[in-house]
Amino acid sequence: MASYVLNGKPPMGLGFVGSSIHGKSSLKLGFVSFDVRRRINISSPRCSISSSRPASQPRFIQHKKEAFWFYRFLSIVYDHVINPGHWTEDMRDEALEPADLYDARMKVVDVGGGTGFTTLGIIKHINPENVTILDQSPHQLAKARQKEALKECTIIEGDAEDLPFPTDSVDRYISAGSIEYWPDPQRGIVEAYRVLRLGGIACIIGPVYPTFWLSRFFADLWMLFPKEEEYIEWFKKAGFKDVKLKRIGPKWYRGVRRHGLIMGCSVTGVKRESGESPLKLGPKAEAVEKSVNPFAFLLRFILGTVAATYYVLVPVYMWIKDQIVPKGKPI
Ligand SMILES: C[S@@+](CC[C@H](N)C(=O)[O-])C[C@H]1O[C@@H](n2cnc3c(N)ncnc32)[C@H](O)[C@@H]1O
Repeated sequence: MASYVLNGKPPMGLGFVGSSIHGKSSLKLGFVSFDVRRRINISSPRCSISSSRPASQPRFIQHKKEAFWFYRFLSIVYDHVINPGHWTEDMRDEALEPADLYDARMKVVDVGGGTGFTTLGIIKHINPENVTILDQSPHQLAKARQKEALKECTIIEGDAEDLPFPTDSVDRYISAGSIEYWPDPQRGIVEAYRVLRLGGIACIIGPVYPTFWLSRFFADLWMLFPKEEEYIEWFKKAGFKDVKLKRIGPKWYRGVRRHGLIMGCSVTGVKRESGESPLKLGPKAEAVEKSVNPFAFLLRFILGTVAATYYVLVPVYMWIKDQIVPKGKPI
């Protein structure tokens, strides 16, 4: 697995970390800590700061109902398709490292925990009875319940944008590969802030936006691939301090990020004050139970799923390239 850092330097577009956008790589380990105000002044041709996503991009599966049905089917093969291609065990362990799971007695929630793949990484450090997995998909959770190692964890259905946990109640908030389906990511991060105890850490692992035109086209059809700056901005607006971003990716990508990575970064922030987030939001826009027009729903669902299929093929393509192109050369 590759995890790359900028060692304090701001990222140049979405080139690779520890490498220039021209493809010369110099891989270094560490973190990137961003100052959003500083970032605004940095000219970056392909990756500008933005507080809201343009409505012109459809993102057909970034709605709760569609995400629900998407995982109704994907849950059947999830552990066999997603993990080997996009989200490997070594990537997971690298991505969890900034969450600082140093004490087995800490109370941890895994939001959008799905089949429990990330939870299996969490319980390497934390007593399973202190871990709660929450997901809006009963089908994904059914897979988690089948895993012997997760038997002691609490497994509940719920919405990342409206967590059923008291304020100031958990030590670590982890969410991997789920933010891209939340209709309002800022709201999910505000919830992360609320449920954490003072000094607790939120760790959100998620995709990064592609720069290659075809990958960008399918990404925008499918779901939300946030820009790195957006993660940072959401965390800071929610009230987190010490916000850091660590880039991750499968090792056969050799640092290439132009196609966007479904698991492309691990972002962490520390809760600075007890209580709710200083950012106050209005009522939640969507509920999974909300009824939708069935024809519009079906069309969106099919188009979104076709776009998602592209992202099953990208890692295969990158894997083949990795096999063919001599080691040490950029791909
Ligand atoms: C790509 S899977 C990631 C699963 C798991 N975290 C992992 O690392 O393999 C995304 C998960 O997010 C869940 N999800 C999507 N939107 C959600 C929401 N609003 N609230 C809770 N879970 C959500 C999906 O049901 C799905 O299980």
